Amino acid sequence: AFCPTNIIVTGGCGFIGSNFVHYVVENHPEVHVTVLDKLTYAGNPENIAGLPAGRVELVVGDICDAGLLDRVVPGHDAVVHFAAESHNDNSIADPEPFLRTNVEGTFRLLEACRKFDVRLHHVSTDEVYGDLALDDPARFTEETPYRPSSPYSSTKAASDMLVRAWVRTYGVRATISNCSNNYGPYQHVEKFIPRQITNILDGVRPKLYGDGRNVRDWIHTEDHSSAVWTILTRGIIGETYLIGADGERSNIDVLRAILAAMGREPDDFDWVKDRPGHDRRYAIDSAKLRRELGWEPRHTDFMSGLEQTITWYREHESWWRPSKEATEAKYAKQGQ
Ligand code: NAD
Ligand code: DAU
Repeated sequence: AFCPTNIIVTGGCGFIGSNFVHYVVENHPEVHVTVLDKLTYAGNPENIAGLPAGRVELVVGDICDAGLLDRVVPGHDAVVHFAAESHNDNSIADPEPFLRTNVEGTFRLLEACRKFDVRLHHVSTDEVYGDLALDDPARFTEETPYRPSSPYSSTKAASDMLVRAWVRTYGVRATISNCSNNYGPYQHVEKFIPRQITNILDGVRPKLYGDGRNVRDWIHTEDHSSAVWTILTRGIIGETYLIGADGERSNIDVLRAILAAMGREPDDFDWVKDRPGHDRRYAIDSAKLRRELGWEPRHTDFMSGLEQTITWYREHESWWRPSKEATEAKYAKQGQ
C-alpha cells in the first residue's frame, strides 16, 4: 500500500473536498493536509474551520498558477485533485471558467506532479459517460465509452484524458475515479438537494426541471471520501475506478422525499424549464472498486442520509444564507 503522510487537497474548501479533509483528519491521524483552493463562489474556508491547525493548512491560490504549484507541490507525497468548476447549469450559462480550471488547471497539476514526481489522484464524474435511457438495464462501467453532454462534463472528460496521457507518456503516477451524484453537508445551495431544502426553509416552492423523471445515482459524500482514500492508498497506477452506492432515484422521487420529510404536501413544488441537453439517467456499476480494493459504502439508507442532510441545513442557516439570494437570482434569470 501507498502510505502518504503529507498530501495536497485541491478544492478542499468546496463541498466534496472539504468533506474529504474532515474524513482524513478524523480517520488518518498521521496525515497532514495542505488545502489548495482559489476560494471561488463555491469555496468557503468555514468548511474546514475548527480543524487542528497542526493537521490542516490552507493555501489560497489558483491551480492554473504554475509558479505557485512550483512552490507548494514539492515535499508532498500526493495531490488529491477535487478543484473544479462543478455546476452544469453554470457551464451552460458561461463555459469559459470550466475550460480554464478543469482543463488547464488539471494540465498544470499534471506538469507539477511530473516535475516533482508526486502521485496524483484525479477526482472525476460519471457524467463523462453521457447518459442512459430510463429503460436501459445497463450501468456505466470503466469500459463505457466517453460521451459527455454538457460543457461541464466535456471539460471533465478532457481532464481525464490528460491524466491518462500523462501516465502513459511521462510515467506520472496517477489514478482516476468517476463518482456519481454526491449529497451531504456543505453542498452549495445551487445543487438540487440543498436548493430544494433551503427553498422549503425559506417558504419558497421547490423547482423541478423538465418532467422530473431524470434519474441520478446518489451517494453520501462520506462514502465518496472513503472510496477516494482507498484508491489513493491501494489503487493501481494508471487505473480508473467507478464509485457508486446503488442509489438510483428519479428527481421527482427525491423531491417528494424531501417534501415529506419536511412536512409538505407531495405536489407543493413548481415545474420549471428543463436544462438544455439534460442527461436522462446516470447509473454506476462499482463492482471493480468493491472486488479489487474491497471498498463498501456505509451510508446505504438514502432516507436516513437525506434526513440528516435536511437537519444539517436547518441547523446551519448562517452557512448557506449568504449565497442563497445570488444563487436564486441567477436561476430566476434562466427561468429556473
Ligand atoms: P464545488 O464546486 O463544491 O467545489 C469546488 C472547489 O474548487 C471550491 O472550493 C473552489 O473554490 C475550488 N476551485 C475552483 N476553481 C479553482 C481553481 N482554479 N484553483 C483552485 N481551486 C479552485 O465542487 P464539488 O461538488 O465539491 O466537486 C468536487 C470535485 O468532485 C469536482 O472535480 C467534481 O467534478 C467532482 N465530482 C462532483 C460530484 C458531485 O456530485 N458534486 C460527483 C462526482 C465528481
Ligand atoms: O453525476 C455527478 C455530477 O452530479 C457531478 O459531476 C456534478 O459536479 C454535480 O453537480 C452533479 O451534476 P447534476 O447536474 O446531476 O446535479 P444537479 O444538482 O445540478 O442536478 C441534479 C438533478 O436535478 C438534475 O437532473 C437536474 C435536476 N434539478 C436541478 C436543480 C438545481 C432540478 O430538477 N431542479 C433544480 O433546481
